[in-house]
Amino acid sequence: MKRAPLMIANWKMHGTLAEAVPLATAIVNGVPRIGEVEVALCPPFTALARVGELLRGSSVALGAQDCHWEIRGAFTGEVSPGMLVELGVRYVLVGHSERRHLFGETNERCLLKVKAARAHGLTPVLCVGERFDQREHGETWDVIEGQLQGGLEEIDGPVVIAYEPVWAIGTGVHATPAQAVEVHASIRRWLGEVWGKERAAAARILYGGSIKPENFLALIGEDEIDGGLVGGASLDAGSFVRLVEFAAETVS
Ligand code: PGA
Repeated sequence: MKRAPLMIANWKMHGTLAEAVPLATAIVNGVPRIGEVEVALCPPFTALARVGELLRGSSVALGAQDCHWEIRGAFTGEVSPGMLVELGVRYVLVGHSERRHLFGETNERCLLKVKAARAHGLTPVLCVGERFDQREHGETWDVIEGQLQGGLEEIDGPVVIAYEPVWAIGTGVHATPAQAVEVHASIRRWLGEVWGKERAAAARILYGGSIKPENFLALIGEDEIDGGLVGGASLDAGSFVRLVEFAAETVS
């Protein structure tokens, strides 16, 4: 059975209000008939409120790119899960490779964030993935298992996992369906051990890394791939809507 696909747009640090409003509008207008696919947009924090207003009443959900794990306090520059909930956010990315590699995000912090997000009723999207040198050295699974370990077993409710090989993010080089399926299947096996088979079978595991309309059909056609986390191609409404349509084709 195919799980309901989830397509998430990660706009990263793109999108002034002047850019984010027309982009979100074009996406919402492009996808209203796609009920079988869940779609979420993750604009920068500064555009969350405005894009959230635009999405209200539509089938497109609001997501954030990160959050802190504390409820409030002296954490200059941080945003708490409760602040996101107030804006109507439903999904929050945790441990994106840019956060891990450019901003020193550790596995321990990621798991604190996943727990805090769940405690506020948000669905965390925990991003995992190996660097190219780690793949070359046969360390892919060890790296990913390390990123999954340390607390997921204690978490109730939905958690989405996004497999994003670091070497595929923003590079134009995507994982082949076979490479992605191998990792997705290992992640699901691991989830089965900590969550039990039934919950693991229902969990959505997304692929991310240089997704484009030209390469996505082969990826989303795989039973193990439950959707996409899309960076660059989500900044073009036409491309992102096309990707959502491909995902819809797999369930119609
Ligand atoms: P990309 O980014 O689609 O531009 O490779 C994906 C991501 O970073 O989530």
